[in-house]
Order: sequence, then structure tokens, then C-alpha cells
Amino acid sequence: MNQAVILAGGQGKRMHAPIPKPMFRVLGEPMLEWVLGACEAAGLPRICVVTGYEAKQIEDYLGDRCATAYQAERLGTGHAVMQAIPFLEEDTDGSTLVLCGDAPFIDSETIQEALKLHIAGENAVTVITAKVAEPFGYGRILRTENGISGIVEEKDATDVQRQIREINSGCYWFRTADLITLLGRITNENNQHEYYLTDTIAIALESGLRAGAYCSDNPNVVLGANDRQGLLRLNEAARMAELRRHMANGVGLVCTDGIIIERGVEIGAGTEILPGTIMRGKTTVGENCTVGPNCLLENTTVGDNVQLNTVQAYDSVIDSGVTVGPFVHIRPGSHIHSGVHIGDFVEIKNSEIGEGTAIAHLAYIGDSDVGRRVNIGCGTVTVNFDGVKKSRCTIGDHAFVGCNTNLIAPVSLGKDCYTAAGTTVTTDIPDYALAIDRGVLQIKEGYSLRKYAKKKAASEEDGTV
Ligand code: UD1
Ligand code: CA
Repeated sequence: MNQAVILAGGQGKRMHAPIPKPMFRVLGEPMLEWVLGACEAAGLPRICVVTGYEAKQIEDYLGDRCATAYQAERLGTGHAVMQAIPFLEEDTDGSTLVLCGDAPFIDSETIQEALKLHIAGENAVTVITAKVAEPFGYGRILRTENGISGIVEEKDATDVQRQIREINSGCYWFRTADLITLLGRITNENNQHEYYLTDTIAIALESGLRAGAYCSDNPNVVLGANDRQGLLRLNEAARMAELRRHMANGVGLVCTDGIIIERGVEIGAGTEILPGTIMRGKTTVGENCTVGPNCLLENTTVGDNVQLNTVQAYDSVIDSGVTVGPFVHIRPGSHIHSGVHIGDFVEIKNSEIGEGTAIAHLAYIGDSDVGRRVNIGCGTVTVNFDGVKKSRCTIGDHAFVGCNTNLIAPVSLGKDCYTAAGTTVTTDIPDYALAIDRGVLQIKEGYSLRKYAKKKAASEEDGTV
């Protein structure tokens, strides 16, 4: 069976953080995740990740998703692959793809096309290459008239070799049985005293085996990050690629400023995204919506014709024809049904908001089931937490909740009922009733005139006026 070994032992010293380099994120996902995804998309479910620096972080991330091997000391890419020999020996029939966990843009098409060439050429090893404008730092591909003769590292290269623009991406197909043999023959006799995986090519050729190179037409396959600026460049490349994909599907952008859309997100045609908008996780937005400025949607499903302005929504569902914002927080477990209007400074948590309901301003609705065509007045609060436990409120269809109503949960308002402004509701209110909770309004005529007169007399006495 064909399989993959991903090298992920590197530290990334210049990142200045105790995180293995492949775990740094590009567009919200660890670089390792991008590489795993490409292997899986290429139909390679048998994968071994070689860990090293802060191995536990990678092991915890992977769980039982694939095998791992541990490299105790970083002695080079060849040495790293040697740690996976027990994994390779479990299945020596097919070919093994070796790739770097910190070069996220390897794609499944490149993997598959390179395999075709590898098989057709009956190669022991096929290196995936790319032609780049700035080859500095990469291994250079040494071509001959009828193939390749090897790879030379930047630090070992002559001035003439350094002019070569075709570089080693760090990904290779090996015939598995040959890989095991070749690994046994590499040494660390070079300027860096490392076991170079790249030496396998010259060794294969010397032993009469075939070696080839597949030049990918995706120059990004080589891109990696050595520092935070490099990571920023990867993020920018990934971000723009996603934005281009959405635009090709009919999503409108007048400006890309601050718009970050992760890979799992789907957006319908005719929807416009305004600056400062971030969409993460499993988020779906329908057609003809306006999202932004400044929205953050995470694992949220949005219908068609929805307007969101300065809204943060997490793990929730917003149906078609809803308008929300500005300055609204929709917390996990909420379902905003169609035609709802939510205005400024409203927080919704773990609640159902029925069709056509209006919550125009300044309200907190938590752990509640709100019916259809309800009007929630300004300042309404569902008092869902008594300091010990959370309880739910239910509000019936067509209810009219007056301004500054407190609903002390658990409590329910019947359908078509009213609460007067300022009412604190502590017991259930039946259908069609009015709940009113007011002290008697007292009026003290001339109160402030008397108060000022007193104040004036006092200050005249102590001479301050
Ligand atoms: C390597 C290649 C170079 C290629 C480049 C592409 C060698 C000798 N050189 O160079 O030709 O152009 O990748 O990016 O292979 N790793 C380990 N353990 C180690 C050493 C490395 O796990 O002991 C991992 C790293 O975490 C990384 C990958 O292997 O994911 C590549 O290692 P790196 O040190 O970046 O290789 P380069 O010297 O850049
Ligand atoms: Ca590198």
C-alpha cells in the first residue's frame, strides 16, 4: 500500500515560542493539518508523523488519527525518516511519500501526478521540485541530459550550483523497500554533519537504481516559514487564495482589508463581505447576504438574505431574512428563526428566537425559548442565573415585553400577553394577560425649589457665597 511519512520534529527557533514549527497556524489550522489534509485528499490514509521538539503537542493534536515516531535528537532529515523504519516495515509493498510538516501548501494533485511519474519511470525515488525566483536556502536539483544526478544543499553548493532555480520541495516518493535500503547507506559527512535525506538520490543512482524529479506547477509547494514574518506571508497567501475562490463563486468584496475566511467556510453567490470580517470553522453563509463590517462567525450557519453588521456569532444558526446588529453577541446554542430583527447591543445565549420576533435594542436573552412575532422591549433581561443554577424562560407567540422587564427564570409568559415597562416577573403569566409590577407613583410638588433654597441658606451662613 502507498503511505506517507511527515517530518514534524523541527522547533522553529526564530518563532520564539515553545511550539513545534508544524503546529503554527496558517489560516486558523496548524501547518501539519494542511499537510495531513493533502495526504488524505491524495488517498493516503496510512500516515506516520515523525515528532521531535515538544512531541506531546503533536501527539495530543493527532490523537489516534495516525501513527507517530519519535526522533530524540535532530540529526537531519535522513535521520528523521530512519525513525519511521518500523512503520515502513509494516508494509513494504508500495511507495512512501515523505514530506515536511512545515510546508503547508503541498497539494493532492501534485502528490498524485508525481506518483504517476514515479511509477511510470520505475524510480526508486522521485523528488518533487519547483522552479522559484529566489532559490536561496533550498536544496538545488542537479539535472543531467537524461535525468537528475542529485541534490546539493545551499551550504554545500558551489557558486555555479547556487544559480540553479529548480529546487527541492522537501517532498519525495520512494519505493518503500528501496527507501529502507537507502536510509541504511547515508552518512553525515557534509558541512552540517547531518544525515541528509537528499543523499538518497545520488546513492540510488550509484547503486543502479533510477531517480527522477517531478516539477510541480504550483510554486507554493515549497513555501515554509522560518520566522513570524514567514508565517505572515503564508497566512497572506492562504487568505488571498480563499478570497479568490469565494469571488470565483460569486461572493462580492470591495476591499479585502481584515477579511479572513478559513478553509472550511462556504458562502453563497451574491453575498457581500465587508472589511473586518472573520469566518472560522464550519461556517456556512447563504446567498445575497451582507456580512460586515466587523463580523466574527464561528461554526455558524447563516441563511439567505441576512444582514449582519458588527456581530459575533458562535455555534449558532441564523435563518433567512434576519437582520442583526450593530454590536450584537450571539453565543453558542442559539437559533434565530427567519425574519427576526435584532438591533444594537443585544446578547443572545443558548436561545430560540421565533420567526419575525423583534429585539430592537439593549437586551439579554439567555437560556430562553422566545415565540413568534414577539416584541422584546429595550432593556429586557432574562435573569437566567440565580448564582447557583441556570434556568430557562419561555415567552409565548405575539407577547409584548415592555421596556426594562426582568424575567426571573424559570418563568413563562403566555401568548399575546403584555408586561408593563419596568416589571419584574417572578411567576408565570397566562395567555392574554398584562403583568404590571409598579409601586404607587408619588409626586412631591416644588421639591427641588425647597432643596435649593435650603442649600443656598446653608452656604450664606458659612460664608462660601
Ligand atoms: C530540506 C532539504 C532541502 C529542501 C528543503 C525544503 C535536506 C537535507 N534538505 O532542507 O533540500 O530544499 O528541505 O524545505 O533534507 N526535520 C526533522 N528532524 C531533523 C531535521 C528536520 O524532523 O532532524 C524536519 C523539519 O521539522 C522539517 C523538515 O524535516 O519539517 C525539513 O527540515 P529542515 O531543517 O527545514 O530542512 P532544510 O535544511 O530546510
Ligand atoms: Ca526548511
